[in-house]
Amino acid sequence: MLNLSRIYAKSRQTAENAKPNLTANESRGDRKLPLFMVNHGFTKSFGLAKLRDLAEEARVREIVLAPLTRSRSYGNVPQVHAILYYSQRTTKGGLLIAEATGVSDTAQGYPNTPGIWTKEQVEAWKPIVKAVHDKGGIFFCQISHAGRVSNYDYQPNGQAPISSTHKMIPPQKQLDDTMIEFSPPRCLTIEEIPLIINDFKLAARNAIEAGFDGVEIHGAHGYIIEQFMKDSANDRTDEYGGSLENRCRFALEIVKAVIDEIGAERVGIRLSPFADYMECWDSNPEELGLYMVQSLNKYGILYCHMIEGRMLIVDERRQIPHHLLPMRKAFNGTFIVARGFDRDEGNKAVAEGYTDLVAYGRLFLANPDLPRRFELNSPLNKYNKFTLYIADPIVGYTDYPFLED
Ligand SMILES: Cc1cc2nc3c(=O)[nH]c(=O)nc-3n(C[C@H](O)[C@H](O)[C@H](O)COP(=O)(O)O)c2cc1C
Repeated sequence: MLNLSRIYAKSRQTAENAKPNLTANESRGDRKLPLFMVNHGFTKSFGLAKLRDLAEEARVREIVLAPLTRSRSYGNVPQVHAILYYSQRTTKGGLLIAEATGVSDTAQGYPNTPGIWTKEQVEAWKPIVKAVHDKGGIFFCQISHAGRVSNYDYQPNGQAPISSTHKMIPPQKQLDDTMIEFSPPRCLTIEEIPLIINDFKLAARNAIEAGFDGVEIHGAHGYIIEQFMKDSANDRTDEYGGSLENRCRFALEIVKAVIDEIGAERVGIRLSPFADYMECWDSNPEELGLYMVQSLNKYGILYCHMIEGRMLIVDERRQIPHHLLPMRKAFNGTFIVARGFDRDEGNKAVAEGYTDLVAYGRLFLANPDLPRRFELNSPLNKYNKFTLYIADPIVGYTDYPFLED
């Protein structure tokens, strides 16, 4: 099977050397490609002309829209204004990852976040996905469960949020300096764990039903999967706690369930071993990251999307710490990095082989035409932190200006 990284690697190589390096069979286009690539015409004519197209588009395709929670899906149902938001950020061949999308009614931890567990939600996603496909984009749904990053207000019947633990998160400061409070979680029993895994599996099936090309399992940023993975938040004594292998069991069982449902070529995962969001950190993040990517290799998933560690300040300049190098080297599929990248750092990371693709969050939010701006090295709009997460359908998400033609 050909994966994204090989396609991207080949197109980069073509751009650099201006000579494709495919075998006769490959250039005839009879390789086995992931279904979504077939859907998007990757196989139509994989001859020289197509390769040239890919080479020209290579930079566009290395710029990924990071998942960005918009808090505008009233009643957990995606709204029509998301059509504009996502299609504004679509470029032919570009990969977009949708905002964190709840897998069940216990998955929410923020106001107005979308879900994908009901028929109504699936139907509401369909026109949004179609708009991205109509412009030639590749669209993955980030399937997510907040776990203990929640409170009674977001839970069915005001019940306690669920987690790997009973340990509660202390109040956290938000971007606007207000405090956010959490409720004491209820530690899942071992008998309940398969039910949550099943929620991820059903959500993945629903995402495909909605038309998405695949799903990104949200295993980052202190949400339920990390609550199991990291030793600051997992104090279990059963087979889901203690050793590294036990702590990663929940994540890997979700991966297995999802790939059994929709196929490994449609599955990515987001991981943040070096982060400490929401009281979730690990005493050995490198070992955790490596164990995960080596385990993921056995499943052959399409991509691993990792969050870079904290910026280093060198010579008074912020620099990417490149903490992810061992994981990049160990992982067999497409590698995506995120956090803190700008045009130059992103280009450098791809050129040096540190990653295949770079996901941009705040820059892509504030610059709907980010690939074009990067191509022209144009000035960028600055994002407004005060309009993040507000419930307005437009302000702060679809009102950022495009470059003048
Ligand atoms: C408003 C906002 C919403 C976010 N929502 C999500 C989300 O739903 N899922 C996720 O994995 N990360 C989320 N993130 C993190 C981003 O995907 C990204 O990793 C982060 O912004 C760092 O990348 P950047 O430096 O390019 O902005 C969010 C970040 C911001 C600023």
